Amino acid sequence: MKILVTGGAGYIGSHTIIELDKAGHEVVVVDNLCNSSSKSLERVSGIIGKPIPFYEVDIRDRKGLDKVLSEHKVDACIHFAGLKAVGESCVKPYEYYENNINGTLVLIDALRSHGCKNLIFSSSATVYGNPAIIPITEDCPKGRCTNPYGQTKSMLEEIFIDIQKADPEWNVVLLRYFNPIGAHKSGLIGEDPNGIPNNLMPYITQVAVGKRAELGVFGNDYDTHDGTGVRDYIHVVDLANGHVKALEAIRRNCGLAIYNLGTGHGYSVLDVVNAFVKANGVPVPYAIKPRRPGDISTCYSDPAKAERELGWKAQYGIEDMCRDSWNWQKKNPNGYKD
Ligand code: NAD
Ligand code: UD1
Repeated sequence: MKILVTGGAGYIGSHTIIELDKAGHEVVVVDNLCNSSSKSLERVSGIIGKPIPFYEVDIRDRKGLDKVLSEHKVDACIHFAGLKAVGESCVKPYEYYENNINGTLVLIDALRSHGCKNLIFSSSATVYGNPAIIPITEDCPKGRCTNPYGQTKSMLEEIFIDIQKADPEWNVVLLRYFNPIGAHKSGLIGEDPNGIPNNLMPYITQVAVGKRAELGVFGNDYDTHDGTGVRDYIHVVDLANGHVKALEAIRRNCGLAIYNLGTGHGYSVLDVVNAFVKANGVPVPYAIKPRRPGDISTCYSDPAKAERELGWKAQYGIEDMCRDSWNWQKKNPNGYKD
């Protein structure tokens, strides 16, 4: 299939292009590079050994999208483009709603007017809020999101559900990602956060490489085995493969489908620190800090539905994730800025 990949220069998009290529798909990438570098695409191009058609276009730019879609007849869209920093979304809610929601509406209209009604959307486990069931199945009721970023994911899911219901020609797969970490085994591409990382793994790798003095562990009084927060970390290459499997569902005219993409295993902050030290033999000094506002205690998936219906299952374990995150960081201490 020919796939429009929005946000393809970003962390998950760049890894997904490689897996799409391996599966025999063609891609065309749209990204405005607001949170990424075209270097990621140059490196992906080196890995797959072919050029990647890339348009520096904002998904809110309808004319720009029309040009891309006139030049490329696409069969489906994988929609990664969006702003994703939780803290920033609390400071700039308008910008988050405008970019993520307006951008997606413009994209949907452009796609359908060019005859493409197949889409995979990057949703998040954040839509479950403080989850009512652990492990979280797709039937778990959605919860209250504590920040505008999470709200955009939850609201966009509802928008897609309504659009698909009104026009069953649409095939829409909502993928709820748990916590993607890791990097391509080459160490050529990986996560390259701007400024101080908000998420755990990029912070750990920056401590390990000497850019930050110590990791702050946000709370050790949660109701978990060691008191620190528990999450379902998933290797980004496994996540990327989930999109390849979701495309097969689209090919089978799945209509609307929702899947958790996680491993089903919960690891605490200290479990991850220990796995990182064990896998890489580098120290990660840490100090216990107060809880981070808005954090929940425990969040991990039941990924059985994706295995049953998509034949998808995560292959990599926590040590692989730690090894590959470190391989990327140590080879690229300043990310794509080197
Ligand atoms: P990322 O920031 O690395 O990639 C997103 C890409 O979208 C960036 O390259 C950015 O430049 C681009 N973009 C943003 N707004 C755009 C616009 N208006 N027009 C064109 N391009 C635009 O983030 P990522 O980690 O690769 O995440 C990809 C998607 O998955 C996002 O929608 C994110 O919300 C979602 N998601 C990510 C995580 C995670 O932990 N990384 C978890 C759940 C969901
Ligand atoms: C965060 C976002 C969530 C988003 C997800 C993936 C919040 C409240 N939630 O989730 O909306 O979908 O990222 O991008 O920000 N931790 C530390 N020290 C750190 C960083 C994190 O102890 O420096 C802890 C956290 O308290 C948490 C765990 O590590 O227990 C994972 O944190 P993080 O990587 O930010 O992911 P989430 O909190 O799951």
